[in-house]
Amino acid sequence: MILQAEKPIALCSDHAGYATKQAVIAYLEQAGIAYKDFGTYSEESCDYPDFAHPCAEAVEHGECYPGIGICGTGEGVCMTLNKHQGIRAALCWKPEIAALAREHNDANVLVMPGRFISNDEALEITKVFLNTEFAGGRHQRRIEKIPVK
Ligand code: RB5
Repeated sequence: MILQAEKPIALCSDHAGYATKQAVIAYLEQAGIAYKDFGTYSEESCDYPDFAHPCAEAVEHGECYPGIGICGTGEGVCMTLNKHQGIRAALCWKPEIAALAREHNDANVLVMPGRFISNDEALEITKVFLNTEFAGGRHQRRIEKIPVK
């Protein structure tokens, strides 16, 4: 495991991402990977920002690394996470995108669309994300230009 050497992974979802989050949790537990679940904790309808903001703050402030966020499309969670200056959240629906989000963008939160991928696909995407290093070089220069001053 390349990422998550010392810190727990921050997790968040809304009701539409809950089942996928539970599949991710089952994988993390069997793999012995620490995590902190910022909710939601059931399939009862809820508002994704209520869970994505605390998840983003945990990664931004160094309590957790990396993060994983899931909602129905992934869009709402991704938009919310990326409001935080220190967050580079990447919406990934294929392992290849997750690999490039790490290699090129040094993404620190993986976001997945729970209603559009299977649990098996979610776990494959998660494993690739957690095992891919940032390539640095020209990509370092580019990510340094992302923040709004
Ligand atoms: C919930 O119905 C859905 O809107 C939410 O999970 C997400 O897809 C929003 O971006």
